[in-house]
Amino acid sequence: MSGSDVRFQVQPGGKIKGAIRVPGDKSISHRSIMLGSLAEGTTQVTGFLEGEDNLATLDAFRSLGVNIHGPENGKVVIAGVGMHGLKSPGKDIYLGNSGTSMRLLTGLFSAQAFDCVLTGDKSLSGRPMRRVTDPLARMGAEIETTEKGTPPVHIHGGQKLCGIDYAMPVASAQVKSSLLLAGLYANGQTCVTEPAPTRDHTERMLRGFGYPVQTQGNKICLLGGGKLKATNIDVPADISSAAFFMVAASIAPDSDLTLQHVGINPTRTGVINILRQMGADIGLANEREVGGEPVADIRIRSAQLKGIRIPEAQVPLAIDEFPAIFVAAACAQGQTVLTGAHELRVKESDRIAVMADGLVTLGINAKPTEDGIIIEGGQFGSGEINSHGDHRIAMSFAMAALRAQGTIHITDCANVNTSFPGFVMLAQQVGLTIEQSS
Ligand code: S3P
Repeated sequence: MSGSDVRFQVQPGGKIKGAIRVPGDKSISHRSIMLGSLAEGTTQVTGFLEGEDNLATLDAFRSLGVNIHGPENGKVVIAGVGMHGLKSPGKDIYLGNSGTSMRLLTGLFSAQAFDCVLTGDKSLSGRPMRRVTDPLARMGAEIETTEKGTPPVHIHGGQKLCGIDYAMPVASAQVKSSLLLAGLYANGQTCVTEPAPTRDHTERMLRGFGYPVQTQGNKICLLGGGKLKATNIDVPADISSAAFFMVAASIAPDSDLTLQHVGINPTRTGVINILRQMGADIGLANEREVGGEPVADIRIRSAQLKGIRIPEAQVPLAIDEFPAIFVAAACAQGQTVLTGAHELRVKESDRIAVMADGLVTLGINAKPTEDGIIIEGGQFGSGEINSHGDHRIAMSFAMAALRAQGTIHITDCANVNTSFPGFVMLAQQVGLTIEQSS
């Protein structure tokens, strides 16, 4: 089936009720395969996200000779091969839509003994890779991309890497993680300084695998040459997937929804902070720690939202949730202003342009700016939205129907499966009138 053939039709109105668990965290699932493969011993993962992006990472490690059982109902068993046990894949590695796989694996593979080529789909083939290849080259890696700095990424193995002390120009967990993974193999210490805090799952999981990582303020350091010891990982539900339902239950009148076992790592909770500042009624219960990651049940009840100026410090902490937050902003009273979010232009789509177009199609006054957007709260009408193959755009506009006057049609939705398999059924279960056709 061609990706562009999958469409959503979402009927207007409805309320959001019930208690659900959304699928596992995408970032943590990727890292569980990577570190589990490099560890000594057997790693068992539960709650693994069986989305296409994570399956791309899993297949990549299988092609490097790692024996991986599953996934079966979120359970994966990885027979780690140790730090030096990966084998040449003998063919290009296709990573689909997954930027995280491409950027993290570029770091890891630049330290291996073999050559390899990483490719991706149309969207991934347009995404910037110099942010990782430049600092990796400074460590001694040999990597080629297209002239524009985009994939395919050709990595020449057999290089001796040296640790660096790198100040990242962009706040990016992918860049940080890519350098730390290369740093595991480098001579000496690798330090990465972030301009603002970004998700720290790599650091947490490395420690969980017994690898010392020092964090001091915004500087993260590790020493090359150590080992990883297998461990078990329980992946919490993905706050990025939960975000669509947080917005849905906030904007749909008479809603009361509980999202169970959601990861609330403070480097990921920007969406909660921003929605609360807009007046959302969000409560956390059963706060606990699971395998080094904080988790809670999140209860959301309908609320009248108000427009705000989104604090720039929250941007990296909510970087994947802005499409959903924009839908909330369109339902708020007054104006919402986002600045300092240029990174949104280089995600799976240009999320500033694509969201602004879609909001305008539905009758909202939305003005894109170079590094953000200005949205006036209003009334959604109806219409057809092109998601441009971006999973988060498709799911965000599905939620907009809760406050629309007519049906919302969304095209090019196949990539919802990259991060949220089962989205349509779960959305139906809590009260969204959504159908998928292809
Ligand atoms: C991710 C980091 C973020 C995020 C992406 C997942 C990760 O990207 O947008 O969906 O798992 O490290 P950047 O680090 O490029 O902001």
